[in-house]
Amino acid sequence: MKWIEEELKRIEKKSLFRKRILIEGIKDFCSNDYLGLRKHPKVIETSVRILKESGLGSGASQLVSGYTKYHKELEETLADFKNVPSCVLFGSGFLANVGTIPSLVGEGDLILSDELNHASIIDGVRLSKAQKYVFKHKDYEALEEFLSQNRKKYKRCLIVTDTVFSMDGDIADLKRLYKICETYDCMLYIDEAHATGVIGETGKGGLEHFGLKHKDFVVVMGTLSKALGGYGAFVCGSKVLTEYLVNKARSLIFSTSLPPHICGGLIKSIEIIKMEGKALIRKLRDTEEKLLAILGGLNLDFKYFKTPILPIMVYSEEKALKISKNLFKEGIFIQGIRYPTVPKGQARLRLTASLNYTDEDLEFLKEKLRKVIKKKGKNLRKTN
Ligand SMILES: Cc1ncc(COP(=O)(O)O)c(C=O)c1O
Repeated sequence: MKWIEEELKRIEKKSLFRKRILIEGIKDFCSNDYLGLRKHPKVIETSVRILKESGLGSGASQLVSGYTKYHKELEETLADFKNVPSCVLFGSGFLANVGTIPSLVGEGDLILSDELNHASIIDGVRLSKAQKYVFKHKDYEALEEFLSQNRKKYKRCLIVTDTVFSMDGDIADLKRLYKICETYDCMLYIDEAHATGVIGETGKGGLEHFGLKHKDFVVVMGTLSKALGGYGAFVCGSKVLTEYLVNKARSLIFSTSLPPHICGGLIKSIEIIKMEGKALIRKLRDTEEKLLAILGGLNLDFKYFKTPILPIMVYSEEKALKISKNLFKEGIFIQGIRYPTVPKGQARLRLTASLNYTDEDLEFLKEKLRKVIKKKGKNLRKTN
């Protein structure tokens, strides 16, 4: 179809064309496998054992015949890990957000959403039909001001935020948001995709990081695909909340459940974090510090907030693409992130820390970054 070709050309002209890249034979420095659990021998061994026993897929949705003892045990393990009464699984983080948010608020309700929230939250908000107020990134003053003037006009109210922002690595002030929710009778929805296994002294996430106790108004969503090394997602909260989602969340009800061997592998991942969480988190911070030293030593423009996401800021979409391609030729993969994943003119290389890296890997990274980015003594600092 001609119009599709034209649309693709238009995207390409702006350096916004997207292509999937085969990552065979390349050193990956941008995955979300922060703790290296994806290939942990114990995780794989458990998962393979269950794969042989239960088969490749689950065969049906959770409400038909796709809910096994492994799904139940994973939910219980997650609820215990997150210190929250109950948990329910979803097929992915995207499905969790687009299914849960519209179940909690609808017409006549209000959603307040951080402008840098993940696309799946944005789509969940759109699907909900609630009135939305998108506040500037972490501008909680403005959020409170808005609530003080408008809260009474709406029935239910939901404040939604990433806990660790996926493309910047900074952390939402959950303490402040928790207090705001108590004051203005709102629900607090936190997306812990990049917080679970990443922040908090033992890796439990945002509530642990801020020393907050779960209360019924808090909805804790998270993914199983990042630091936990598997696939899928969860929503933790009160028992009535999870029961309610099993009855209302369309992306849970009308979608095949996770394969049992994925659930089994994840139970093992969480066991490992429960046993070694403190040490793993310390090691992750150490790796971040090593990356920090490399980026600082090369005088690059980057962000760091004590999380494993350390974006190297490039700003220009075209330049980000070019640098990513040149690094690829040198055996390093760091994806160039461009609009609409980040705002226009804010393109970056999303470098991440992972316990998968050896000291030799880090040395290799340093050498290649120097070669590709610092060519002719140039660095990436914004010049305007
Ligand atoms: C903050 C956030 N929420 C949700 C998701 C979606 O999770 P999933 O990849 O499991 O669909 C992501 C994934 O990148 C994310 O970064």
